[in-house]
Amino acid sequence: MTRFDRFVEGIDTPVLVVTASHGDVRAGCLVGFSSQVSIDPPRLLVCLSTLNNTYDVARQAELLGVHLLGSGQHDLAERFGAETGDTVDKFAGLPVRDDRDGVVLLDGVPRRLVGRVLDRIPLGDHVGFVLEPLDVEILDDAVPLGLRDAMDIEPGHPRSS
Ligand SMILES: Cc1cc2nc3c(=O)[nH]c(=O)nc-3n(C[C@H](O)[C@H](O)[C@H](O)COP(=O)(O)O)c2cc1C
Repeated sequence: MTRFDRFVEGIDTPVLVVTASHGDVRAGCLVGFSSQVSIDPPRLLVCLSTLNNTYDVARQAELLGVHLLGSGQHDLAERFGAETGDTVDKFAGLPVRDDRDGVVLLDGVPRRLVGRVLDRIPLGDHVGFVLEPLDVEILDDAVPLGLRDAMDIEPGHPRSS
């Protein structure tokens, strides 16, 4: 482990599930690299690995779904973080809502939003998607599942090609 790895190990943040759809194709993955990046106007940055199936769909999408998970939803984090849409339909059997313009939203999460993609910024092996929040739902007050709580999950997609 490098000193940088140890430094960032001290940064905790809620994990998100970011979903995208294009035509009939739906995708989504667990995301730890995210942040609010502007107050006024409100902007959220979510970062997707260029290797992930979700990136392939998201780069063609105008809208993304962003979901905060509750601390009791480690199983959902595992489904979206430890499987890849290259080989598995992660949405099979899950309650979802196909919102306007085809963005796919998961039910049963404490908070979710639909974001319009304003910009896609290359950031190394991830691309940052700058989102304008369009529709924000606060569904319950569950404590969010944190990155540290999800570090036991083995990413479903290789980190390098
Ligand atoms: C704790 C944790 C955090 C992760 N953070 C990100 C992230 O910020 N961005 C990303 O693209 N993938 C991230 N991943 C990896 C993807 O969620 C994982 O490789 C997933 O299987 C990709 O699925 P896909 O190929 O269907 O897109 C993370 C995985 C874990 C376990």
